[in-house]
Amino acid sequence: MKNSYENHEVFLGEKNYKIFFGQNILENCNSVFKNYVFGEKIIVVYDSSLEKNHLSRLMTSLDGFNTNLIKVKSGEKSKSFYSLNILLNQILSLGVTRNTILVAFGGGVIGDLVGFAASILLRGVKYIQIPSTLLAQVDSSVGGKTAIDTPQGKNLVGAFYQPRLVLADLTTLDTLPLRQILAGYAEVIKYGLINNPDFFEWCETNGSDLINGDLGLRAHAVEKSCFIKAQVVARDEREAGLRALLNLGHTFGHAFEVEVGFGKKLLHGEAVAMGTIAAFEFSQRLGLCSGQDVVRIREHFRAVGLPIDISSVVTKKWTTDKLIHHMGKDKKTEGDNLTFILARGIGQAYIETDVPAEALRVLLSDLLLT
Ligand code: GLY
Repeated sequence: MKNSYENHEVFLGEKNYKIFFGQNILENCNSVFKNYVFGEKIIVVYDSSLEKNHLSRLMTSLDGFNTNLIKVKSGEKSKSFYSLNILLNQILSLGVTRNTILVAFGGGVIGDLVGFAASILLRGVKYIQIPSTLLAQVDSSVGGKTAIDTPQGKNLVGAFYQPRLVLADLTTLDTLPLRQILAGYAEVIKYGLINNPDFFEWCETNGSDLINGDLGLRAHAVEKSCFIKAQVVARDEREAGLRALLNLGHTFGHAFEVEVGFGKKLLHGEAVAMGTIAAFEFSQRLGLCSGQDVVRIREHFRAVGLPIDISSVVTKKWTTDKLIHHMGKDKKTEGDNLTFILARGIGQAYIETDVPAEALRVLLSDLLLT
């Protein structure tokens, strides 16, 4: 793998921005920042888990800039109104102007929370994403979806608000727990399953080595994922159609997350993994894709250690009615119709707005019994 940075651009007219990825970007980010920051105040909002190994790498590099720090506790629970309120107060107390730049240094939770704060502070201040988890580097830091969770559902309060820059340092993945790497990998596979069967095949061949730390493979996965995502976002920033495909597995996954309660018990990527299997099983039952496809996907998930069945988190209080209720709250829902991303095969995902309710009910009750 090259030591220099690679970059991709997200083309959104005036809102174009670059995604840089590579090794040791943290140590060298002052040279990139110089092109974006001209004396303005920078407020770095960071995930508490980065304090030990990575925060000083970033802050040493930003020596000379006008920086302030705010710590946010690790975990999905920080994507709440409660945490947003605290964060906004901390930022306002530091003094914020339209020229202040927020930096989101962490995983998907920090990126979503800080991005949303940036979108509403003074009706919009600039922000930079420095994603530190695989999930954030391959998905959530790119594309400008920002949000918090509420008890009613995941990401129900938020905004489309693009960052000015994304800096993904692959070395932050070295200290990430395996469980978090796996959760991010679920989003990598997604790109293959949506419309890139060759990439799914690449995942089958290389997934285990990538998960075990191969830097070159990780770099390829981040590059490919960002490339695919940037293309999709450029064509459909506000999810009028195409972008919804990126939600493969998410309608099921979000319902599982709400039912478990946001937290460590079920990570977002784990819920997406289980949701992806459910989406393909549903597609098979509806006669859309072959049983072989489902077996192949299950086999790959199992081989790398991703959770497949919800049996590990399900409790007696789960019911099909509750899951369907959560799904009805999903942002993809229109009127009374539930919308799902289904597939006619590996790499052939599509948006289905007319899902047979009874088939869904049977699938969910089967899932709850397994
Ligand atoms: N994570 C899906 C999207 O950004 O559209």
